[in-house]
Amino acid sequence: MSDLSARLRALPAFPDQMPDLDLENLPEDPDELFLAWLEDAIAGGARQPHAMTFLTLGEDGAPVGRTLILKDLDSEGYQISTRNTSRKAQQLAADPRAAMTFFWRETGRQVHISGTVVALGEDVSQADWLSRPNSDGSPNPAWQVYALQPTQIDFMQARHDRLHVHIDYRRQDGLWSHTQRG
Ligand SMILES: Cc1cc2nc3c(=O)[nH]c(=O)nc-3n(C[C@H](O)[C@H](O)[C@H](O)COP(=O)(O)O)c2cc1C
Repeated sequence: MSDLSARLRALPAFPDQMPDLDLENLPEDPDELFLAWLEDAIAGGARQPHAMTFLTLGEDGAPVGRTLILKDLDSEGYQISTRNTSRKAQQLAADPRAAMTFFWRETGRQVHISGTVVALGEDVSQADWLSRPNSDGSPNPAWQVYALQPTQIDFMQARHDRLHVHIDYRRQDGLWSHTQRG
């Protein structure tokens, strides 16, 4: 084992205290559980609790990931914003399948969301652009808000005994169902 490997193995992957996932009271709608975990992360003082890895598919089908900020969650879906000239925008135009992975280290929680992305209207995009802290009030026609409309949302709550709890939600014909993965 290399020195680097030994030092990496010695680092803790999870904090000392982690919440339990109440399996008896899981919501039917995974957005509810996502919002509860996001609120816990915000209340717990997590840094960038709204940051996630956003995955698209490249021209050759290979996954491409980068960090983005979640801008909103409503009936349109999980929203992000970016320039419509960016690499990710080009990839989404060619193949709208995408995914988001959130990791909240303070609670040992991960959420992976996948589905299809739609571009939202000019009004939503410009409202987002103008609400940026460094906005000078001028519109930006290259700014675009996208919404990821999920068909799968997988939650993981880590445990110290390594029996991490995985709950997988799947949407079929507009209805969500969930199962626990072993
Ligand atoms: C914490 C963090 C937040 C970011 N948020 C955004 C964002 O909301 N929108 C965005 O376009 N890029 C954001 N970026 C930059 C992206 O990670 C990425 O480098 C950039 O959008 C170009 O990606 P692309 O070439 O795949 O299109 C963020 C980077 C970091 C580290």
